[in-house]
Amino acid sequence: PVYYEWSGISELEEKLRRNFNIARVVIVPGDTEQDPHARMLMGQQAAHVLMNTMQRNDIIAVTGGSSIEAIENFLVESDISQSVQYIAARGSIGHEMRRQANTLAASFATKSNSAYKTLYLPENLSEHVYVALKEEPIVQEMLALYERTNIVVHGIGRADTMAERRQVSELEMRYLQEVGAVGEAFGYYFNEKGNTVHRVRAIGIAEHHVKKSRNILAVAGGQHKAAAICAYFVHAPKQTIFITDEAAAKEVLAQL
Ligand code: G3H
Repeated sequence: PVYYEWSGISELEEKLRRNFNIARVVIVPGDTEQDPHARMLMGQQAAHVLMNTMQRNDIIAVTGGSSIEAIENFLVESDISQSVQYIAARGSIGHEMRRQANTLAASFATKSNSAYKTLYLPENLSEHVYVALKEEPIVQEMLALYERTNIVVHGIGRADTMAERRQVSELEMRYLQEVGAVGEAFGYYFNEKGNTVHRVRAIGIAEHHVKKSRNILAVAGGQHKAAAICAYFVHAPKQTIFITDEAAAKEVLAQL
């Protein structure tokens, strides 16, 4: 905290908070894209916010990604954590196991002695498989949990990076460029006006679930994500707490 006052970070936090019209902004020093230590700090701050935000019996939905993964090491068991349930906000993406929403929901729960529920289904389903799957009891159960989700913890990515991670076809990549997708969060692609221009056809948490949850933690840093962050926050719910780094915060304020 003392460092924050000296470095002007708290001023930066307030400026960003006001611009985005959200509940709170937490900025860690450095650039998480370049410096693993900064990423660790971002995870630590996010874990701290999460542990102070959770309430007894909460349902907490988590997405995947390296920013969310960084939270895991700093979660500790508490009276409250033992009563909460972590759920995967979506199915699988790409081939990387370690950073999947499923893996993170399970590892967060293990760290804090909480319950968890996973959803092992691929993303990018064809229309008829998607419609059929929605009727399956395990999917129905998950969708009911999304309806009752109290906290959402999610990352924000650049549209191009996330499309690559999802190994989309060239055609889909071109489509995303044409519709001006710059940012992505929980399977939704946004243009710079903050409007959804594409949604991955997958079983997962929907925007309306996120909007009605009590708390939302958005975790994303790095100078290169500035445009994606700006896009996401045009219409981000007011109850969002944004945990980011100095590099992203400065670049965002320069672009606003
Ligand atoms: O939806 C966006 C991703 O969760 C961002 O992933 O934290 O690895 O950049 P990342």
